[in-house]
Amino acid sequence: MSELNSAGFPVHIGFIMDGNGRWAKKRGLERKFGHKEGAKTFRKIVSYCKELGVKYITFYAFSTENWKRPKDEVEAIMALFDQYLDEVRKHTKENIRVMFIGDKSAFDENFRNKMIALEEDSKDFDAMTLILAINYGGRDDIIYAAKQVAELVKSGSISSSQIDESLFSNLLYTKGVPDVDYIIRPSGELRLSNFLIWQAAYAEYYFTDVLWPDFDKKDLDKALDEFKNRKRRFGGV
Ligand code: IPE
Ligand code: IPE
Ligand code: MG
Repeated sequence: MSELNSAGFPVHIGFIMDGNGRWAKKRGLERKFGHKEGAKTFRKIVSYCKELGVKYITFYAFSTENWKRPKDEVEAIMALFDQYLDEVRKHTKENIRVMFIGDKSAFDENFRNKMIALEEDSKDFDAMTLILAINYGGRDDIIYAAKQVAELVKSGSISSSQIDESLFSNLLYTKGVPDVDYIIRPSGELRLSNFLIWQAAYAEYYFTDVLWPDFDKKDLDKALDEFKNRKRRFGGV
C-alpha cells in the first residue's frame, strides 16, 4: 500500500480517459475528433500532476476490449498514439519516467520499438512515473503474471507454496509500481472496465459526469480535495 505524499495527494492516480466519443457526438462531430480533444486533456493533466508532485499517474488509453470498435475508429486512435509517443518523448526531457502496461505484441514492430525505447531511455528518471495503459486489460494482466508463475514452478525455480501476493505483484505489468490509490473516471460511467483490477483492491474511486475532453485542472483539484476526506482503513480499524 502506498502512503500519501506530503500534500495529502494520492501517490498513484489512475485516470480512465472516458467520454471522448460522447464529447464529439454532442458537437455533431465524428468520434475521432473526441479522441483528438481527449489527447489535449491528457497533456494538460500530465503537466498539472507533475506540478502538484504526484509520483505515479496511469492513463487508461486503450483496453483489450476496445478492438471491438469500428475499424476506422481504431485506426484513428492508433494514429493518435503514434503522435502520443512523440509527445511523451518530450516528457522524458522533464525527468519523467515512462512505462507502458498492456500487451505490446498486438502492435507493429515500429510502434513497439518506439515504446520500448521510451521506457529504456527514461528508466532512471524519477520526478514522476507516467504509465500508459495501451491494449491493457486487468484480466490479461493477471493471466500474464499467472503464466510466469506457472513457468517458475515448472522450471523448479520456486515451489507452489512460495506463491504469495508480493511475488505475484512483481510479475504484473505494473511491477515495481505502488498500488493505485485513486481512480478517477469522467463521463458518468460507474465502473472499472477491466482497469487495474488487481492493483485497485484498496483504491478509492472518483466519478464525475464531466467528459474527458472537458476535464480540466479545476476538476482534478475537486477530485483531490475529495480524496483528503476519504478514510482509508485497508481492513484495519
Ligand atoms: C474513451 O472514450 C477512449 C477510449 C476508450 C479509447 P470513448 O471513446 O469510450 O468515449 P465514449 O464513452 O464513447 O463517450
Ligand atoms: C474504458 O472505456 C477504456 C478506456 C478508457 C481506455 P470504455 O468506453 O471502453 O468502457 P465501457 O465500454 O464503457 O465499459
Ligand atoms: Mg467509453
